[in-house]
Amino acid sequence: CGIVAYVGSKPCLPVLLEGLKRLEYRGYDSAGVAVLRPAHAGEAGPGVTTTAREVGRVMNLENAIAPRTAGFAGTTGIAHTRWATHGKVTRANAHPHAGVTAEGLTLSVVHNGTIENYASLRTLLQNKGVTFASETDTEVIAKLIADRYDAEPEGGDQPSPGESLSGFIPSTRLERATKAALRRVTGAYAVAVVCDANPHELVAARKGSPLIVGIADNGFVVASDGAAIVSHTTAAVTLADYQVVRLAAGPAGSTDAAGERHAAAWADPLHTTTLDDELLTAEVGELEMQLEEIELGGYPHYMIKEIMGQPESLRTCFRGRVDTRDGRVVLGGLTGLSRELVRAKRVALIGQGTAFHAGLIGEYLFEDLAKIPARAHYASELRYRNPIIEEGTVVVAVSQSGETADTLAAIAEAKDRGALALGAVNVVGSSIPRETDAGVYLRVGPEIGVASTKAFVGQVAVLTMMALYMGKRRYLSQADLDGYLAELERIPDHVAEIVQQSDHIKEAVEDVVTRDNWLFLGRGYNYPVALEGALKLKEISYIHAEGMPAAEMKHGPIALIDEGMPVVFVATGGSQYSKVISNIEEVKARGGRVLAVADEGDTQIDRYADHVFRVPPVSEPLQPLLTVVPLQLLAYHAAVLRGHDVDKPRNLAKSVTVE
Ligand code: G6P
Repeated sequence: CGIVAYVGSKPCLPVLLEGLKRLEYRGYDSAGVAVLRPAHAGEAGPGVTTTAREVGRVMNLENAIAPRTAGFAGTTGIAHTRWATHGKVTRANAHPHAGVTAEGLTLSVVHNGTIENYASLRTLLQNKGVTFASETDTEVIAKLIADRYDAEPEGGDQPSPGESLSGFIPSTRLERATKAALRRVTGAYAVAVVCDANPHELVAARKGSPLIVGIADNGFVVASDGAAIVSHTTAAVTLADYQVVRLAAGPAGSTDAAGERHAAAWADPLHTTTLDDELLTAEVGELEMQLEEIELGGYPHYMIKEIMGQPESLRTCFRGRVDTRDGRVVLGGLTGLSRELVRAKRVALIGQGTAFHAGLIGEYLFEDLAKIPARAHYASELRYRNPIIEEGTVVVAVSQSGETADTLAAIAEAKDRGALALGAVNVVGSSIPRETDAGVYLRVGPEIGVASTKAFVGQVAVLTMMALYMGKRRYLSQADLDGYLAELERIPDHVAEIVQQSDHIKEAVEDVVTRDNWLFLGRGYNYPVALEGALKLKEISYIHAEGMPAAEMKHGPIALIDEGMPVVFVATGGSQYSKVISNIEEVKARGGRVLAVADEGDTQIDRYADHVFRVPPVSEPLQPLLTVVPLQLLAYHAAVLRGHDVDKPRNLAKSVTVE
C-alpha cells in the first residue's frame, strides 16, 4: 500500500495523483483521495472535504476525477493506493475512510498496516451507535478518531501549572483526538488524517509502518515511500515509531477564517511529538534517492531498467568494500563486531520470497567461505518453530524493503533469544535496520519493479562480502580471499556482458512461451538460483514453474516431463557439471525442451540444450551473481510476450507489511 498526503500553498491534487502513481508499485488494487478546501461563503463549516475512490489503477481514479476537478481545488489532501488485507477489493473498502464528529465535521484517514484489535474496537463503536460502511480496519481508526474528537475540548492545550506560557505550543484538537485513538490501537500503522475543522492542517503518525515527511518550499509532502516525495524535495524527516507530526501550511498570507481560528497549528508548522505527548525536535535529513532512479528513463518497464542497470548497481554495492589493493573486505556497518563474528556458533539467514532465496545462497556461502554452520529460514517459519537460536547465533535478516512483517517479527524473536541480529537491506532508514544490531546496506538504488531483480543480486553480493569478511577472521587464507576479491571486482563487467543477450533470450523464450508448466533445475550454489528463476517466472508471467535441486527431478517431478515441456537448467562449470549434464539427458530423452545457462566456452552443452545462455566462468561461490541474470531476462520476456503488466503483476505487492 502507499500513502501520500500534502499540506501547503499549491493545489494538492496533482501532487497527490503524481505521488500515487509513483507508489503504485507498492500495491494497486484500488486508490482514493480526499481533498480539503476552505468553505465558500454560504457553506457550513470552516472546510469542505471532497473524496473519490476507485477500484483498480490510479488511472481509474484520475479518470473518475477528471470531469469534476473543480471539487478538488484545495491545498490539503490525503491519498492512498491499496493492496487489500482486510476486506475485498471494492470501492467501499478503498481509502480514504471517514468518520463524522458530533458537530458534523468529516475526518478522513489513509492507513498502511494492520490493526490487530480492530474487531473489538468496531464492536465498541457500534455499541455507541456508530455505523460502518466498509469491512476495513482503517475505517475503525477513522471512526475512533471522530469519537475521540468529540471527547476532546475545543481549542489548544493549556500549559501545566507553573509552566511558562512563552514558547508553549498548544496541541490541536485533531492532533489530540488522533493520539487518543492511536493509543487504543494495537498493531502496525502509518496514518495521515485531515479534518474539515481546519483545511490547512494534517496529522500523521507511525508505528511499525514507514512514513516520511518531505519539506518542500511550498508545503509538506508526507508519504510512505521517498519515491512520492523526491520530485518535490530531498529534505525530509523520517518518522520513528510512536511519533506524531502535525503539519500546517496554507496559501501564502492566508487569512481565511479557518487559518486564524487555528492559530495553534500555525504557530509551529512542523510539530513533532510522541504518542505520549513528549515534544520532539524534528531531525531533517536527506532522502537518499535520485529522481532518475525512480523514472523509466526510456525503458518500457522498471523491471527491464533494473535488470539492465545491474552492472552499475553492483559497482555501487562493491565500491569501497571490495578492496583488492589491501586484500580485504571493508564493511563499515560491521566494525566493532569482530569478536562476535569470530566466536559465532552458527548463522541463521532469514527472509521471505526472493530474499529467502538470497538467504539460501548465503547458507552455502557462510559454510563454504567462513566454515560456520549456516541455515536459511523463512522468517515466518522460524518464528513459530522454537529454533536453536541463542547467544552465539548470528541472524542475518535479508530484505529489499526492510519492512517485511514476517522478517521483523523473526528478528524480535531472535533478539529475545540472545542472537546478534544483522541486516542486509536495501531501503535506508527502514524498519529492519532500526531493529537490527548492525548491518550492511545493499546500495543498489530504489527498486520499483515488483519482481525483485537488482535487490536479489545486491543481497547475494552483500552476503558474499559478509561471508568473506567473517571467513577472513576465522579460516579463509589471504590467498583465497585475494582470489575471490579479484573475481568480485570483475562481476559487474560480467553482468554487463550477460545482459547483452537479452534479444537472444527473448528469441529462445518465443519458442516455449505458450507452455504453462516449467521446471528450473540447478545444483549446489545454483539450486537456489533455480528456485529464484521459477519464482520470477511465476510472479510476472503467471506460468506455473517449480525450482528444485537437479537431482531431485528423478524422484517424482520427472513424471511431469512430456513432449515440449520447458526445463531450464543452470549448468555452469564446477564439481557437479557432469551430473547436471546427465539430468539434461534424462529430460531430453523424454522430449523436454532444454534451456541452459552455461559457461562461455562450454561447447559440450550445445549438444544437449535447445537454447544456451552464456555467462563468463567464475568460481562456484560467485556463480549465482551471474547465473540469475539470464533467468530474470527469461521471466521478463515471457511476461511481455504473454501481454502482462510486468511491473504490476496481479495480486502482488512490493512490500508485505502484514504477517
Ligand atoms: C514480497 C515481494 C517479494 C519479496 C518479498 C520479501 O512478497 O513481492 O518480491 O521478495 O516480499 O520482501 P523484502 O522487501 O523483505 O525483500
